[in-house]
Parts: sequence; C-alpha cells; structure tokens
Amino acid sequence: MTEIDIKDKQTQTIAILGGTGKEGPGLAMRWAYAGYPIIIGSRQTEKAEKVASELNVKLGIDTIRGLKNDAAARQAEISVLTVVYTAHQFVLQDLKDDLAGKILVDATARVDFRDPKPPTPPSAGRLAQNILGSQVKVVAAFQNVPAHVLRANITEPLNTDVLVCADDIDAAQVVIQLANAGRMQAYYAGNLDNALVVEGLTALLIAINKHYGVRTASIGLSGLSY
Ligand SMILES: NC(=O)c1ccc[n+]([C@@H]2O[C@H](COP(=O)([O-])OP(=O)(O)OC[C@H]3O[C@@H](n4cnc5c(N)ncnc54)[C@H](OP(=O)(O)O)[C@@H]3O)[C@@H](O)[C@H]2O)c1
Repeated sequence: MTEIDIKDKQTQTIAILGGTGKEGPGLAMRWAYAGYPIIIGSRQTEKAEKVASELNVKLGIDTIRGLKNDAAARQAEISVLTVVYTAHQFVLQDLKDDLAGKILVDATARVDFRDPKPPTPPSAGRLAQNILGSQVKVVAAFQNVPAHVLRANITEPLNTDVLVCADDIDAAQVVIQLANAGRMQAYYAGNLDNALVVEGLTALLIAINKHYGVRTASIGLSGLSY
C-alpha cells in the first residue's frame, strides 16, 4: 500500500486489546487512517510492537504504537477488545482497574467457525459490564464485521452495517462516530442484552457463507430514513 495522507487528526487514543490477531489490525488501520492515535495491545510487548510497526509501514505513518494490554488500556480513552473469545472474561478481570473511567468496546462474538450456533445468554457485552462494573461504559459493536473485509481496502466504505448495543446512549454515540470515522455505517440497537442477538447473527452469517460458498455475507438495515 502506498503512503496515505491522514485526513482529519483526531485526539482520542484508541487501544486495541488483543490487537495482534485477525480482527484488531483491520480496525486499527481504519482508525489510524482517520487520524486517531492507536495502541496495539498484546500479552507481550514485543509482539504488540511488531504488529504496530507492520501496520505503520503499510500505511506510511508512525501513529500506531504497541504496548502490553494493561498499559494500552491505561493510556487510551477508548479500548476495543479483540482477544480470542475464549479469553474474554479472564482478560477483562485482569484489566478491570486499567479500564476504569473509560469506554470499552466489546467486539466479541462467542461463535465457533466450525460449529456456528448462537451463544447462550447473557451477551458477551453484558458479561463484560458485569465484570467491569459501573466505572466502565461497555459498548458492544463490530461483532459481525469480518476481519478480511475490514482489512481489504481501508480507504473504502464497508458494505456492512454495524449494530451498536450499550446501556449508556452517549457511549454508544461515541462508538457510532468511531465506526463512521472508520467508514462504517452504524446504528444504535438497544442495550447490552440485545448484543446477544448480534453475536448470534455471526452464527447465521457463517452458515450463509458456508452454504453459498462466499465469505462476505453481511448485515444491512433498511427502513431507516433520518
Ligand atoms: N476474526 C473475525 O473475522 C472477527 C469478526 C468480528 C468479531 N471478531 C471477534 O474478535 C475477537 C478476536 O477475533 P480474532 O479472530 O482476531 O482472534 P485471534 O486472531 O484468534 O486472536 C486475537 C488475539 O487474542 C489474543 N489471545 C489469544 N489467546 C489469549 C489468551 N489466552 N489470553 C489473552 N489473549 C489471548 C492474542 O493476542 P496476543 O497473543 O498478542 O496477546 C491474539 O492475537 C473475537 O472475540 C471474535 O469473536 C472476530
């Protein structure tokens, strides 16, 4: 990819916790391109720094850093959780103090690609809110946005809608703006209990992809004009 002119400088730092995997880097690149300072989080500093450096090279920028997850969460205003779903609750327990006073965006969809079925209640977002307590505003979002689609062409709008669930409407609005900055259309879809349905949609999309031999089935809302 050639060097990109950063369009609008943003001021809030975004940490992508577990940002070294498949989903995290796509979100990181889209927000870095929009001008946000980004911290890639990992269990290992060196791994975080390596991924951050690779993404900087791809975009021709130097605004992506790598740190351990706890330091990343402390230094960011908004953290986005993209650890493997089986580690979701353990990671949140470890990071509870580091996330206090901030927004935590939970992208977790507890669905196994090999055997896709809807997860059991409560939603991952509700579990996160229960673990983190009222000091943290949890917003569930991006669970249905496939990693390869996010990364394919970060300068293009995504042909998928993002459903945003949160108990706190203001925090949801922050994340809707963040999605917009990353060239995704996003809509408020109710409180954190509703995020269970959004996680379940991932099972449905995987089944559709498998049946039709594609990788790009996505969610699109209709009937909204405002
Ligand atoms: N892949 C997708 O297309 C997609 C789409 C939408 C939502 N999601 C959601 O995004 C999340 C991440 O998915 P992914 O596909 O990116 O996962 P992944 O690549 O398998 O793993 C992401 C990161 O999780 C960290 N991790 C692994 N085991 C861990 C452990 N025991 N404790 C703490 N951290 C651990 C690793 O980071 P370090 O080794 O650097 O610590 C790894 O790079 C999941 O909740 C998934 O449901 C994924």
